[in-house]
Amino acid sequence: MIYRFLVTQPHLNAHGTLHGGILMKWVDEVCGIEARLLSKSVVATRHIKEIDFQSTVRLGDIVEVVVRHVETRRTSMTFTATVRDTSGTLIANFERVVFVAVDECHRPIPVERTGADV
Ligand SMILES: CC(C)(COP(=O)(O)OP(=O)(O)OC[C@H]1O[C@@H](n2cnc3c(N)ncnc32)[C@H](O)[C@@H]1OP(=O)(O)O)[C@@H](O)C(=O)NCCC(=O)NCCS
Repeated sequence: MIYRFLVTQPHLNAHGTLHGGILMKWVDEVCGIEARLLSKSVVATRHIKEIDFQSTVRLGDIVEVVVRHVETRRTSMTFTATVRDTSGTLIANFERVVFVAVDECHRPIPVERTGADV
């Protein structure tokens, strides 16, 4: 799935480029949306492995976040995210983003598997 974001003033750091924390928030959110759709439940971020920031992004740029589902296990779902600008330049790679499906008491619950993701 591809998500797009427009970089505006509140997203910048003191040097006038996209704040890394904002990009992490966007990636966490879009992977979380995918995990929620997949599991049909509330999810919590459990683990993010290796974020590699390769290029900067500037005011007015549009960034594309491509989220890929890697695997579903008992209660967890793993994704990768690749971030590029619209010219295709690689901005960042998120190697593994892991979400856990949780119940109303925030306890892990089994992910409801469908034919598409087993
Ligand atoms: C999400 C949470 C409820 C899970 O509870 P838990 O007691 O850690 O659950 P478990 O140890 O049984 O692990 C749950 C799943 O996560 C996986 N997991 C645990 N640690 C992991 C890690 N470091 N990397 C990848 N997967 C991991 C487990 O393998 C398990 O997956 P599976 O059931 O599909 O095999 C709990 O860890 C939590 O509340 N964490 C904070 C979540 C949060 O607030 N996130 C926002 C960022 S601050």
